[in-house]
Amino acid sequence: MTDPAPYNERDWGVHPAYDYGPYASTKLRAPKQALVSIDQTLSEVTGPSFGQDAAPDIDADLTRNSRINGEPLGERIIVTGRVIDENDRPVPNTMVEIWQANACGRYIHDVDQHDAPLDPNFTGAGRCLTDDEGRYTFITIKPGAYPWGNHFNAWRPAHIHFSLFGPGFATRLVTQMYFPGDPLQPIDPIFNGAPSPEAMDALVADFSIDITKPEWALGYEWDIVLRGRNATPMDR
Ligand SMILES: [Fe+2]
Repeated sequence: MTDPAPYNERDWGVHPAYDYGPYASTKLRAPKQALVSIDQTLSEVTGPSFGQDAAPDIDADLTRNSRINGEPLGERIIVTGRVIDENDRPVPNTMVEIWQANACGRYIHDVDQHDAPLDPNFTGAGRCLTDDEGRYTFITIKPGAYPWGNHFNAWRPAHIHFSLFGPGFATRLVTQMYFPGDPLQPIDPIFNGAPSPEAMDALVADFSIDITKPEWALGYEWDIVLRGRNATPMDR
């Protein structure tokens, strides 16, 4: 058996710098020496594979997957899109995981001590597998903005964290999706770490009236590209 074909060399120009001055903590974790390329062997071009039972349907509905005594509070939304590879082909059956703040801008996490209420019916975590066309779909609550300690009066624009495996460890992507028209984006050091207007644009979902369900939820569409020159930028 021959190893699967390796991926094209990664285009680092579409990703944020490891050390991006305005995003203060990147300085602490950025590599101090140049990266070293390694050969892509079976370990890099393959990854974990999941059966359909790895992500039951309820896991993709964050408005239901952690209810205790009622509906979570906030604006119900649908977030959907396609995962595609560097050659524009769909990536089916891949795990997509998300985590996010609640409608008030608060995470369920010991480190998050923002003075905003937790929601007993919302953990802000979900996952699903892409279908044959590479499509994922989540039902969730629109996350609120929250303050963070990067600089004086720093507030994160509304965002959802995404983690994808893709077909191999070489396609692993951890990033954030943003919402259109958010006034905090131009002053957010994480969003602005994306190295070009095109790269920033690739992080912002489109509002879609076609995905919007009447009397029920607004719809957003966000496609994710794993590797290649159109790759969705990584998080730092
Ligand atoms: Fe966040």
